[in-house]
Amino acid sequence: MANGLEWNEKYRLGIATIDDQHQYLFEIVARIAALDSVNSDKEELKAILGELSSYMREHFRDEEAYMRRIGFPEYKYHQKLHAEIIEFVNASVTRSPTITMIQTKLKFIIKKALIDHIIEEDTKIKLYTVSQKSEFIDDCIVDL
Ligand SMILES: [Fe+2]
Repeated sequence: MANGLEWNEKYRLGIATIDDQHQYLFEIVARIAALDSVNSDKEELKAILGELSSYMREHFRDEEAYMRRIGFPEYKYHQKLHAEIIEFVNASVTRSPTITMIQTKLKFIIKKALIDHIIEEDTKIKLYTVSQKSEFIDDCIVDL
């Protein structure tokens, strides 16, 4: 599947836990994209969308914990962006009840909620980590 919705190495931050979670989000997206719009039932779509939404929250919580741990200066702003993304994804999903509608909008939703956010915002967390000469803390989340 090459639809611009897959994980790409250029999204890697070098912070293992966060990278793993980002990759898992792309996996959930791939499952939505692969749904058969004729034969899949709506419950299946609902279940995956529910997983996307709850995993996204979990990921943001962990990423925010990491930012606090390294003393990331733009923490408040970044946290606000996360809240906006959750609202945006929930709103997009609620307004598109059918599989076909979700799949049609998926690229737009994921570009805005995941890809652009990683490239434009999460990259700043990486740069700050590097500038602080802190090691990339792989166990940042379990330690908290
Ligand atoms: Fe983020």
